[in-house]
Amino acid sequence: QDPRIGGIAASIRVVPDFPKKGIMFQDITTLLLDPKAFKNTVDLFVERYIGKDVSVVAGIEARGFIFGPPIALAIGAKFVPLRKPRKLPGEVISEKYVLEYGTDCLEMHVGAVQPGDHALVVDDLIATGGTLCAAMNLLERAGAEVVECACVIELPELKGREKLNGKPLYVLVESR
Ligand code: PRP
Ligand code: MG
Repeated sequence: QDPRIGGIAASIRVVPDFPKKGIMFQDITTLLLDPKAFKNTVDLFVERYIGKDVSVVAGIEARGFIFGPPIALAIGAKFVPLRKPRKLPGEVISEKYVLEYGTDCLEMHVGAVQPGDHALVVDDLIATGGTLCAAMNLLERAGAEVVECACVIELPELKGREKLNGKPLYVLVESR
């Protein structure tokens, strides 16, 4: 394992019972306060994807907007925001997904991604995998090929990885 991973893991604060009882919230704002950990996080992704023919980095609102853009800039890919409903002004395609209570939705601008694009999906964390699944559906509907999903943190007990239909998932830190 890369020696930088330990410092990244240590910089993530775990907040019990947030936003509700029983949830161990993985707080990446403390990682952002540690410039070394933040840089190492971005560097590890960049080292993995540079030269790999990724033409689009798609970041998921909100926390995928923190890690996606520096990766996109460093590897020379365009950045495409996947947003919560009714935020994007242009024509959009939408994907609903299931949450613990109710549903949510992600939207992407039509034309942001084209057939032939090779996409990397970036978020801070995979829990049940529903969010990443919706993101991949949007990209594939637009004709892109999803190369991989990349997250800082995985909660392996929730088995979100199994929901990705075999699509590769790269994570830096596993948590419980
Ligand atoms: C959190 C997290 C991931 C998603 C993972 O986002 O940032 O995007 O949940 O959950 P899943 O794997 O079970 O789908 P959240 O929807 O809380 O919103 P935020 O990023 O806007 O804070
Ligand atoms: Mg999120």
